[in-house]
Amino acid sequence: MNFKYFLPTNIFFGQDCIVKNAETFDKSGKKAVIVTGKKSARLNGSEKDVRAALDSRGIPFVLFNEVESNPSIETVRKAAELSRNENADFVIGIGGGSPLDAAKAIAVLINNDVNDDELFSGKYLNPVAPVIAVPTTAGTGSEVTPYAILTDKKIENKKNLSTPLIFPAAAFLDAKYTESLPLNVTVNTAIDLMSHSVEGYLASRANSMSRMYSIESLNVFGECIPALTGKAELNIKIREKLLYASMMAGIVIAHTGTTVVHAMGYPLTYFRKIEHGRANGLLMHEYLKFISSMHPDKVKILIHELGLADIKEFGNLMDMLLGEKEILSRDEIEKFSSVALQAGSISNTDPVPKIDDIKKIFTSSFPG
Ligand SMILES: [Fe+2]
Repeated sequence: MNFKYFLPTNIFFGQDCIVKNAETFDKSGKKAVIVTGKKSARLNGSEKDVRAALDSRGIPFVLFNEVESNPSIETVRKAAELSRNENADFVIGIGGGSPLDAAKAIAVLINNDVNDDELFSGKYLNPVAPVIAVPTTAGTGSEVTPYAILTDKKIENKKNLSTPLIFPAAAFLDAKYTESLPLNVTVNTAIDLMSHSVEGYLASRANSMSRMYSIESLNVFGECIPALTGKAELNIKIREKLLYASMMAGIVIAHTGTTVVHAMGYPLTYFRKIEHGRANGLLMHEYLKFISSMHPDKVKILIHELGLADIKEFGNLMDMLLGEKEILSRDEIEKFSSVALQAGSISNTDPVPKIDDIKKIFTSSFPG
């Protein structure tokens, strides 16, 4: 057996975990920049709890609430400039994957005046500012990963900033912040967490530790399927399970990385504005068929951990979760396949797909 395992994030999970552990903020710095999207952190109560915790510890803060979905490099530069001008020395990201990923990149840029290539290099002259992550969706697992996915308009795609330096110092997971999410957002983000666990389990870089987290995550996700398909109540207990499964899946990809599904999903999001989790979900069934040709036993294990009988039943579940599917033109399939092939995560897929495999997965996933 041979593996590395590294998770430096201090995890706090459970109801009111932010206010109950407010002293954690003391260790991070003297002034915070809170990084969020426009509204949701205010509406779901997470921003209020963070403000209360900071106030209770006498820590001043400045707010940057302009993070868009799939945040751009320009946005994180703007937030870093504000942070520097305000002398903020640590970053609190509140939200879904977008504000959390933005927070990590901002933490790099606060102390490092670097160009885009240097930003993505993962090597910096000055220390990266501490990041505290408060997820308000259950899907990305960004609170426990060393990744920040940013939109790079120059290459017309998403780009992955990956360095252990941006692992959050602490993560606060309280499922009450996810209670107000509409069903479609809950389903899409849940599909993202499932794809992290599945891709991570099947990745070249998987190891016995990461597989353990995949299995636990898929088991828990399986328990949530009736609520996600509308056959059971989507209550706070299920919300908590999804948040827990998402964190587990984040720990998986922190060690294994993602694979061809994410590589193919990014152009769907960039060019067709298909939400990230949904983009993955649209590809999952055909991806599993592709992997199954080489590793049928591994795929069977995953399907059974989800509580399903076989790949066909998995396909039926995805159809139910996704509803009516988008249509891709032949030109789009050609273009998106070329884009996907360039992604670093392709080589992390086992077997490594060729361009024709990628085209086939696209074509079979988007019939018509
Ligand atoms: Fe993802």
